[in-house]
Amino acid sequence: MMTNTQADKLFADRLAETARLVEAELGRHLDDRQRDHEIARPARLMAAMRHGALGGGKRLRPFLLIETAGLFGVSAAAALPAAAAIELIHCYSLIHDDLPSMDNDDLRRGQPTVHRAFDEATAILAGDGLLTLAFEVLAEPASSPDPAIRAELVLALARASGLAGMVGGQMLDLEAEGRFAEVRRTAPPWPGDVRRLQAMKTGALLAAAVDMGAVLGKASRGQRLSLSTFGQSLGACFQVADDILDVEASAEAMGKATAKDADAGKATLVAAIGLEAARQERDRLSADAAGALRRFGPEADILRVAARFAAERTS
Ligand code: IPE
Ligand code: IPE
Ligand code: MG
Ligand code: MG
Ligand code: MG
Repeated sequence: MMTNTQADKLFADRLAETARLVEAELGRHLDDRQRDHEIARPARLMAAMRHGALGGGKRLRPFLLIETAGLFGVSAAAALPAAAAIELIHCYSLIHDDLPSMDNDDLRRGQPTVHRAFDEATAILAGDGLLTLAFEVLAEPASSPDPAIRAELVLALARASGLAGMVGGQMLDLEAEGRFAEVRRTAPPWPGDVRRLQAMKTGALLAAAVDMGAVLGKASRGQRLSLSTFGQSLGACFQVADDILDVEASAEAMGKATAKDADAGKATLVAAIGLEAARQERDRLSADAAGALRRFGPEADILRVAARFAAERTS
């Protein structure tokens, strides 16, 4: 049995190793070298895409994908293309989330946001470019030699990213803020509404990382169900923690502005149920995530630490 300190060290090392692998893989996809099938790689677009995708971020979604696939003996190298694809989607979602018309943020991952470093139109296109590149990467044979598995990966990522996943969740997030005339808000948001929008805007992609790892690993139906519960609980936990960190953490630690959600009228779980109840819900979700792994042995310990990290993280 590992102690918590040993497990934390292993987790930190493996997360750092994933970040290194993902940085190199994304850097390769985003270099200036024009590919055979391309007419041109516009320099300004490439620079903005690199700004949004390289040099920062915890790389937690790639980590979850790689470690879940690893449960079934799939190597990190074999899972890396799919891991890069999901990170490309995540980076695109951050660029668009920060736009003046969305959350209007100036700082991301300790750097100016893409629309600040470039301009708004370029930021929109950089997000679009990362989104479409994600599916290009996933459809290429390198993501899996088996076309049926590639199709399943594309389906999982599309569903998690799109109208009933991240994009839909972002719409509900803006609506719940009360910024549109047809859904003005006066009272605090309903907890059920907040949980639903968070499951979509954040939970879906984190859960997809785990699901895609399970697809690559050819997990059994039962294993996939357990992993799915793990991913959904971890995803919910992760966004509640983000809402709490907006209240409790510094911009330096987070690499993005904090203490913003309340003034912006954001429909966070803190706004819905208060800080202390949100802390309890975060910790319960973390325990639920770890509990969903009960059918797995010590090989899943790294995912158990990930469940703890989602709640205890400080950045
Ligand atoms: C930030 O995600 C957006 C949310 C879903 C809360 P992360 O906290 O994973 O951001 P990076 O990738 O580490 O910058
Ligand atoms: C963002 O939620 C979720 C995304 C889909 C990007 P937030 O708006 O709370 O994320 P941060 O706090 O800006 O990272
Ligand atoms: Mg937002
Ligand atoms: Mg935001
Ligand atoms: Mg936030």
